[in-house]
Amino acid sequence: MTDPAIRMLREVTTARRTLALAVLAGAAAIGCGIGLFATAGWLIARAAEHPSILALSVAVVAVRGFGIGRGVFRYADRLLSHDAALRALTGLRPRVYRRLERLAPAGLFEFRSGDLLARLVGDVEAVQDLVIRGVTPPLIAAFVGAGTTGFVLVLFAPAAGVLALGLLAAGLVLPWATARLARRSGPAYAESRAAFSVEVAGVLDGAAELLAYGADARAMSKLAAVDRRQADLARTDAWVAGAGAGFALLASGGTVWLVLLLAVRATAAGQLDRVPLAVVVLTALAAFEAVAPLPVAAAQLAAVRRSAARLFGVMDAPEPVQEPESPQPIRPGSHTLRLRGVGVRYAPDAPWALDGIDLDLPPGCRVGVVGPSGSGKSTLVSVLLRFTDVDRGEVLLGGTRLADHDSDDVRRYISGCPQDPHVFASTLRENLRLARPDADDDQLDRAAADAGLLDWVRSLPKGWATRVGSRGARMSGGERQRLALARALLADPPILVLDEPTAHLDEDARAAVTASLLRATRGRSTVLITHDLAALAEVDEILVLDAGRIVQRGTHQALFARPGSYRQMCDFDRVGV
Ligand SMILES: Nc1ncnc2c1ncn2[C@@H]1O[C@H](COP(=O)(O)OP(=O)(O)O)[C@@H](O)[C@H]1O
Ligand SMILES: [Mg+2]
Repeated sequence: MTDPAIRMLREVTTARRTLALAVLAGAAAIGCGIGLFATAGWLIARAAEHPSILALSVAVVAVRGFGIGRGVFRYADRLLSHDAALRALTGLRPRVYRRLERLAPAGLFEFRSGDLLARLVGDVEAVQDLVIRGVTPPLIAAFVGAGTTGFVLVLFAPAAGVLALGLLAAGLVLPWATARLARRSGPAYAESRAAFSVEVAGVLDGAAELLAYGADARAMSKLAAVDRRQADLARTDAWVAGAGAGFALLASGGTVWLVLLLAVRATAAGQLDRVPLAVVVLTALAAFEAVAPLPVAAAQLAAVRRSAARLFGVMDAPEPVQEPESPQPIRPGSHTLRLRGVGVRYAPDAPWALDGIDLDLPPGCRVGVVGPSGSGKSTLVSVLLRFTDVDRGEVLLGGTRLADHDSDDVRRYISGCPQDPHVFASTLRENLRLARPDADDDQLDRAAADAGLLDWVRSLPKGWATRVGSRGARMSGGERQRLALARALLADPPILVLDEPTAHLDEDARAAVTASLLRATRGRSTVLITHDLAALAEVDEILVLDAGRIVQRGTHQALFARPGSYRQMCDFDRVGV
């Protein structure tokens, strides 16, 4: 398998021209720095010989030129390399999001939510480091190192050998060593950072439970342990980075001393003038600027590699739904939804969550689905909303297989509220408009009224503009449920699917919402999953599911009239005809 860092590099270096320009600008900036030192050395040594001022004037101008050029090129380098990195990010981030959208919700179970957040925020940003630190600096160092060594070679060959060795030690050996040391701590650090965000998200989400059961102290000490481990790893990282910087200084200092020693001896022996001596020594000193960023960059690359591997974990995760090669549009109009022998299981060796399901839903008909929990009701919803592909049988919409349509098109036609609907940390208005972004307040009011939510919204001082907190923390379970129902009614799809829309309501509220629900769905194709048997008296057909199979089907009257699981449920619920 390709190294994740290299694969990521290939994916993100889209702005090749900008990167090449950044390398040129960076090399020019460091080149100017070296030129500045070399000219300054020449100027000082030459001035000591008291020549006419004219002999120095070119060098004086050159010093100014190098000084200004250094700043300008450095600026250009930063601008271009960050531009390339940010462009890489703007390319990558939407791809990761699109990928997540394709995976959601059925393919996301293995990526826990806090971890997912870390992936998105931290890992995508780490890619920026890869471009800024991993691509341009090594190339700049290679250019500048070769150029400077060549320049010194012309002036004084023995010094060129020493400089080459010094640069190789600081630019190749040292980064390699720090990368090796960081290879162990780097992944562990990325891992522990992810573990930390999972823990924090868990503690925040579950704060009420933790406090209720007195488990908060335990959770906090677990969090503290993860935090301590992260701090330890950060310390190791810092230590490696610090040692790397120290050794880099040692390499440059040692090289300069050695060059100076050789040059002084050569000057004493009459083999080298005093002016080139100064130039050679100062050039050698300045050359190390090019390799200085490499050890830290190498250490960071280990972490970047890990981030890249985790991002590819998301990007390569198998899609829960196979999109058709050439999706067919859904023809406008009312279509019959038909299920034939549908079977679904969540793993090849898992039991069938749905087994041999047949269902006809002609336009305007309502079908109710009941069954104990775990009987496959929500799996049926997943199939209808194309969150999951069927493993056996087929689902047909107006004669065309559901699998031949783009799943987004399907969800415009068949839609509704899932079990455990999500409420976003936004206003009530935005939460409801999610279902139809162009809806005006009148339409919101009507959907809310049908869902029995309007009186509550009107009672709030800020009304629709009320912010509901993270996951709708400031709403009761019933209010969240009604919001979800209002969303489904506002979306107004040709086929409406409702998964236990009255689950968290108390008895009075349930009766009220059920009544308005039945009113709102009259004459509209609806699949209604419910425990509320009173709601089923009006639907056209009831399916009773058990362990993924249909064990009974018929109208409420027909099913109630004969013994069986439906009758038992009704007796249990004391529902009469
Ligand atoms: N994402 C999943 N991965 C594995 N098994 C699942 C998943 N979702 C549901 N199941 C299993 O499929 C069966 C049907 O679940 P579900 O459709 O949620 O039932 P219901 O909605 O009737 O309570 C259950 O045995 C459940 O454990
Ligand atoms: Mg369910």
